[in-house]
Amino acid sequence: MCYTLLCFTLLLLVSSSFCAKQKCCPDKECYELGDPWQTLTRLVPEPECEGNLTRFFLIESSNKDNPVVFTARNASKIPGYLNVRKPTIIFFHGWMSSAAAPSIMNITTLYSSRVNANGIFVDYGEIAKNVNYPQVVSNLRVVATYVTKMVQNIIQAGVSPSQIHLIGHSLGAHLAAYVAKAIPGIGRLTGLDPARFLFTDQNCEVRLCKGDAQFTETIHTNGNPVWGFGTSIEDGDVDLWVNGGWDQPNCGVVVNPLAILQIGRSKISEVVTDLFFCSLRRAVLYYTEALASSCVFWGVKPDPLNMLISRLTLGHATKFIVHPRNCTLQNCVPVGLDTIHATGRGSFIVPTNYQQPFCVSQ
Ligand SMILES: *[C@@H]1O[C@H](CO)[C@@H](O)[C@H](O)[C@H]1NC(C)=O
Ligand SMILES: *[C@@H]1O[C@H](CO)[C@@H](O)[C@H](O)[C@H]1NC(C)=O
Ligand SMILES: *[C@@H]1O[C@H](CO)[C@@H](O)[C@H](O)[C@H]1NC(C)=O
Ligand SMILES: *[C@@H]1O[C@H](CO)[C@@H](O)[C@H](O)[C@H]1NC(C)=O
Repeated sequence: MCYTLLCFTLLLLVSSSFCAKQKCCPDKECYELGDPWQTLTRLVPEPECEGNLTRFFLIESSNKDNPVVFTARNASKIPGYLNVRKPTIIFFHGWMSSAAAPSIMNITTLYSSRVNANGIFVDYGEIAKNVNYPQVVSNLRVVATYVTKMVQNIIQAGVSPSQIHLIGHSLGAHLAAYVAKAIPGIGRLTGLDPARFLFTDQNCEVRLCKGDAQFTETIHTNGNPVWGFGTSIEDGDVDLWVNGGWDQPNCGVVVNPLAILQIGRSKISEVVTDLFFCSLRRAVLYYTEALASSCVFWGVKPDPLNMLISRLTLGHATKFIVHPRNCTLQNCVPVGLDTIHATGRGSFIVPTNYQQPFCVSQ
């Protein structure tokens, strides 16, 4: 009784951080509350039982413009539509995004045609569209439960976990990490500028970390610790710091002045994303170009000085001070499919052009 009272008091004080408590959903899935999910530095609400809003878009290389759509209700049919001997790429979008974002969908399509893989795009747009960011952060666990079930199904049908590559952008990078943590032996996990707020400095259980998959890599484009939306810590076996990894050239400080010129010429939602999320979005653009182009985005071993200058110039100097000459898979690390085939591990700095085509040819 006394303990219950104490527990209840603490609960009121620190939003249940100390009391083992669970949130159970109508689908019988339960989620532990408290540490490490809810702490004093991670004030997120309880997850909402919305996982069944997750949809899966299956992209077949023979019919890539017409994905087959599955809901939580018929996702168990997915194995019947896959070639289980092929590799499988599963892509996760970020906050405020969905399957309707063509630039994101392109990665799945390009990848599946480049390596003849099964492409699955996880659309949790109905959950990600909530402007309440901490609630979306909390709900990632619920989405992860549904994706994990789907992945377990395709593994049971014969897909090898080591042939599965999870790629996530921003919040989606951590969502992909939850799935990787839940399934032993996932081959590869790629975080495209993993989200920073409510993740950096938290326990590895709640965020993307080295060790989540057999090979984990991150591409940093907006890790500025003051105004960036991405992480600025090393979190993978390979961390690629594009133009220093904090800000991207021609994106401006926080607000991108070039985007203002676009008002009236593009869709307003695109202008807004370009205004505020220019550097964050570049991770997707660089990865897309790396998949589509024959030009290689090489990363070289950084030194403290070229990293510092790159960051202080908001990414503009890198192209002039970092030269990927004579790069091979032995002395440099490329962005894209071949990152895993390079021998180097740790951090690398990648120079790019200021606009498309971003790749700097050797
Ligand atoms: C999802 O689950 C909730 C709660 O169980 C239910 O009310 C809702 O109808 C379900 N939605 C879908 C799309 O299945
Ligand atoms: C799965 O269910 C959705 C919604 O009912 C439907 O639109 C879709 O065609 C179904 N997919 C398959 C492959 O049956
Ligand atoms: C996405 O793909 C479409 C169609 O293939 C193409 O027109 C568009 O330029 C691509 N977008 C990006 C950002 O790569
Ligand atoms: C690159 O290789 C060429 C020929 O092998 C050599 O002459 C040149 O010095 C090398 N450049 C650098 C920067 O190592």
